[in-house]
Amino acid sequence: MLAPLRCRSETIAAEGTRKRRGFVFWQLFVTTAILAGSPRNHRFFDRFGAQPLIIAHRGYRSWYPENTFSAFTACLGRCRMIELDVRLCRDGTVMVFHDRNLTRTSNAAMMAWDLGLVSLNIDDWRSDQIRRLDAGSWFVETDPFRTLARCPVHRNRLVTLLPQRIPTLQEVLSWAAVHCMPLNVEIKDMKASSLGPQIVKEVIRLVRTSGMRGMVVLSSFNHDYLRACRQHAPEIATAALQQRYHPEDLVPYLRSLGVCAYHPEKSITDQALVSILRAEGLAVNVFTVNDPTRQSRLLDWGVTGVFTDFLEQKERSSRGTEPRGGR
Ligand code: G3P
Repeated sequence: MLAPLRCRSETIAAEGTRKRRGFVFWQLFVTTAILAGSPRNHRFFDRFGAQPLIIAHRGYRSWYPENTFSAFTACLGRCRMIELDVRLCRDGTVMVFHDRNLTRTSNAAMMAWDLGLVSLNIDDWRSDQIRRLDAGSWFVETDPFRTLARCPVHRNRLVTLLPQRIPTLQEVLSWAAVHCMPLNVEIKDMKASSLGPQIVKEVIRLVRTSGMRGMVVLSSFNHDYLRACRQHAPEIATAALQQRYHPEDLVPYLRSLGVCAYHPEKSITDQALVSILRAEGLAVNVFTVNDPTRQSRLLDWGVTGVFTDFLEQKERSSRGTEPRGGR
């Protein structure tokens, strides 16, 4: 009786050891995977070197309709990074679009009747329906930055570019890969939509298949999305967007998110904040800064970059000796 018991206890012990080894191996694997992803993720903004970084906000949106190919192509040679916004539409396609409601920047209100649609929310439209919209006429008609009034020639040229389509993220990633243009993809908060949980995984899939994973930083006001990015794609850089107030214990909080950058609204950004975060090796990119004097002040404080609607101001060539690499 004793022998079989010993055998059984030995078997249980061996099984336990195997399980423990398996667990340790798994832990090592996960840790290695995270660490392997971290350095590249955290050095994302190093590529821009010592020069202040001007980031085109939704493309060159003061002169072209935001988040369209005309606004993106106009950035070439004018800035070193483009920011754009993404949302899922009804069939799960990731569209490049800012508002949940389609009306401000497209002719959806006019087209909805023809298409038999009642809702004007992008998540209620299929991609083939969205492809029929014009995302350019509103800009020519409303001239939101008063730039077209200053330059009728440009206005006439824009008219020849109509209609302008709402692009998919896949299309913009392919375009950016050809032009080696780094992108900040802002994942809009879709918690009001039933499609919400899918968006992070779909964006990650597209970034990976485009070959742009080292050229894209994903940002969001929804920090749960950033946690999900960290979990599912630790090799892709992330940045925390924040407006109105800072989270408590900001630096540990950002560390817990695993982001390489903080993107605060300009009204909550001061010199002390910039110094602390830069000393911690975090990049700081401030939105949306259109006033050149404010831009200069922020850059003098040592921010990594600024988001702006205007690309006329040239990137300044230097700004003292402070290292500007950062995570
Ligand atoms: O990503 C920076 C800035 O674009 C965030 O604000 O409203 O333009 O998405 P918003």
